[in-house]
Amino acid sequence: MSTLTVRKLNVDLSKGFERYWLAGDVYRTAFMNALSMSFPLGEQMFIDSVRAVPLETLPDAALRAEVKDFVGQEASHRFVHQQYNNQLARQGYDYTLEPSVKVRVGRIARLPVLDRLAITCALEHYTAMLADFVLRHPGFFDGADPQMRTLWSWHAAEETEHKAVAFDVYQAAGGGYARRALWYLHVSVIFWLDTMRQTHYNLARDGQRFKLANWASAARTWFGRRGLVWNLLKPGLDYLSPRFHPWQHDNRALLGMWLERNDDSFRAIGSTPS
Ligand SMILES: [Fe+2]
Ligand SMILES: [Fe+2]
Repeated sequence: MSTLTVRKLNVDLSKGFERYWLAGDVYRTAFMNALSMSFPLGEQMFIDSVRAVPLETLPDAALRAEVKDFVGQEASHRFVHQQYNNQLARQGYDYTLEPSVKVRVGRIARLPVLDRLAITCALEHYTAMLADFVLRHPGFFDGADPQMRTLWSWHAAEETEHKAVAFDVYQAAGGGYARRALWYLHVSVIFWLDTMRQTHYNLARDGQRFKLANWASAARTWFGRRGLVWNLLKPGLDYLSPRFHPWQHDNRALLGMWLERNDDSFRAIGSTPS
């Protein structure tokens, strides 16, 4: 039996949300919106790269079942973030990087399957680290639109739950250390540059780039007592160990706690039997 569950989220974004839905914090809202904008294309790329490995070549029945649920989870994330992004478009925000990301995703699709998987593993490590931050520091969303808080926490829970699937597929397909580490270094630069640039565009759209309050929020978000830098630095470097595996950082307790406390926010669709 797969250890993953595909869930339907009880969130309705059709009526939209406040422009600065994260407690009125302009910088944090722009940053989270930039991440959301990148998800539909990114998560489709994860699905395609994992699917590029024929299921029957994976020796472990449980992993085969998890691949199916990984695809189910990422597909539902895409769907929900697309609704979220449609609202952003209605608010006048433009995913400025979309054309160049599309070109890059097209290039990745033509790479050998192990390279595609190594890129996916690297990005899944970033989503897993950010997910850990969201589950560990729920105060980050204090004062946020309740539906948006639920949406981000649900996504964080499922990213945690499936954080090792692409990695296990990569290893089962014969992927080695050097390829994984080199792609991680490359992806790290692109991922952060893209996220910073799109955050900047989102702020620019509202004429908010040069406001002191937003710079102060950025400083707090990254370097404050619970800043992202302090949460991402060690796990970010851990990935470069030849013996790294995503579950060496066991945060299942955080995941279990969120699922238990929020079971009215979703409906389990089920797990794939192995
Ligand atoms: Fe996802
Ligand atoms: Fe994921």
